[in-house]
Amino acid sequence: MAKVKTVFFCQNCGNESAKWIGKCPSCNEWNTYVEEVLSKHSATQTDFSFEKTKPVNLKETGTVKTEQRVSSKIAELDRVLGGGIVSGSLVLVGGEPGIGKSTLLLQMALSQEGKTLYVSGEESVQQIKMRAERIGEIPGNCFLYAETGLSEVLRQSESLDPDVLIVDSIQTLYSDRIEASIGSISQVKECTAQLMKFAKQKDIPVFLIGHVNKDGAIAGPKVLEHMVDTVLQFEGDRHLSYRILRTIKNRFGSTSELGIFEMNTSGLREVTNPSEVLISPREPGLSGISLGATLEGNRPLILETQGLVSPASYGNPQRSTTGYDYKRLTMLLAVMEKRLGIRLSSQDVFLNIAGGIKVQDTALDLAICASIFSSFEDAPISDSVCFAGEVGLGGEIRPVGRIENRINEAEKLGFKEIYISKHNLKTKDLKQFKISIKSFSKLSDLFQELF
Ligand code: TYD
Ligand code: MG
Repeated sequence: MAKVKTVFFCQNCGNESAKWIGKCPSCNEWNTYVEEVLSKHSATQTDFSFEKTKPVNLKETGTVKTEQRVSSKIAELDRVLGGGIVSGSLVLVGGEPGIGKSTLLLQMALSQEGKTLYVSGEESVQQIKMRAERIGEIPGNCFLYAETGLSEVLRQSESLDPDVLIVDSIQTLYSDRIEASIGSISQVKECTAQLMKFAKQKDIPVFLIGHVNKDGAIAGPKVLEHMVDTVLQFEGDRHLSYRILRTIKNRFGSTSELGIFEMNTSGLREVTNPSEVLISPREPGLSGISLGATLEGNRPLILETQGLVSPASYGNPQRSTTGYDYKRLTMLLAVMEKRLGIRLSSQDVFLNIAGGIKVQDTALDLAICASIFSSFEDAPISDSVCFAGEVGLGGEIRPVGRIENRINEAEKLGFKEIYISKHNLKTKDLKQFKISIKSFSKLSDLFQELF
C-alpha cells in the first residue's frame, strides 16, 4: 500500500511544515500545528464539467473587454468592490461572528435581478428564510441550498446556473477529494481553489464568507487571501450598530475604500452620509469634545473624539482608548506634557472615538490633543470648529495628505473654522474655500488662540 503523505499546517496562519513544531515561525503562535493528510488529487480535478483551455497567441486574441460589472444593488458594497460585482470574480468576505456577514450577503442576494444561489453550511433553510423575512420582501429568483459537500454544491450550481453564487461559509465546506477534516487548512484551500476554478470557468461571481481568527485575520489564513480576487473585511463594535466594510485586497479596484452600514431590526441599512450620523448633537458648553476631519480611503469623514481627563485617585494613572491606537495616545500625552507643560502624568485619560469606528489616520492627532486639552482645562470647544493635522514629537503640527478633501467635507457639513498645519498652506492653494482656514505650526500657538 502506498504510504500516505502528511504535512503539518499552522491553523492560525496556514504555514506549512514537514514535521510538528511547537511554535509557528511565521506567526509566533504556540501549539497551532495540526497534521493533515495530503492527497494526490488536487484542484486539477473538479466536480463540474471543466473545459480544458489552450495557450493563445496574444496578437491574435481579440481585445479584452473591460471587466463586466453588475451592481450589487447595495451602493456601499459596490463602492468597496470598486464599482460593482465583476463577473467571474471570487470575493472573500471576512469578519467576526455575529457582525452581519450572512445578513449582508443575503440582502445582496435578495436584491439582485438575476438568479442567485445562497449556499449555507451554517444555517438551515428555515433559519435563512426567517432572516430573509426580517429583511424584506422575498423575490422569486433567490435559491437557498443547505449543504456542506463541495461536490454537491458545484454540481447543483452548475445545473442551476445562477448569476451570483454565495457560500456561507468556506470553513464549513468539505471536498471528499482530500482526507483532511472540515475547516482544516487543506480543506479550506482545496475548496477555495475549486470555487475559483468554477468562478472563472462559468464566469459567475462567487462570494465566500470566511471567519476570522483571534487576531482578526481570516482563519485559514493568508493563503486564502492570495487565492481570491477580492478580500473584504466586515468590522465594527458588536454592541454598537455601525458596521464598516473595508477592502483589504482588490484585483479590480482600489483597496482604500470603505462602506458604512447600520444594523437595525430589518437588516443592514446603508449610511450614505456618515459624517452626519457619526456626529451626535451635543449640549453646548461640554468640554472634552472635538471634531477631526479624517480620510478613510477616498472618503472624508468628520469624526467626534471625546477625551476625559480626571485626577488619578490612586496608583498608576490609567489610560484607555476606544477606536484609537493606545500607543499613539500615550505618545500624544507625552508630547503635550513636555511641549505644553501640562501635568498629565497625574491624571487618568480616557479617549473615545464616537460611533465605534477605528481610526488609523494620523490627521486625527490634532483633534485628539484638542479634546484632551479641552477636558483638562474644562474649556469647551465650539461645535463649529474642526481639526485636521498630525502632531509630531516636537509639538509641531505636521501637514496631512489630501487636505482639500477634508476641508471640503467640513465646509459641506457647515463648519465655520478648520485648524490645519501651516505647511499644508504652502503646498496647496486653498483660496476657493469659504470656511475660515486657520493654520499653525505649533500646538502651543494653536491652543493659545483657541482657548
Ligand atoms: P449575521 O449576519 O448572522 O452575522 P455573521 O454571519 O457575521 O455571523 O448577523 C448577526 C447579528 O445581526 C445578529 O446578532 C442579529 C443581528 N441582526 C439584526 O440586528 N437585524 C436583522 O435584521 C438581522 C437579520 C440580524
Ligand atoms: Mg453567518
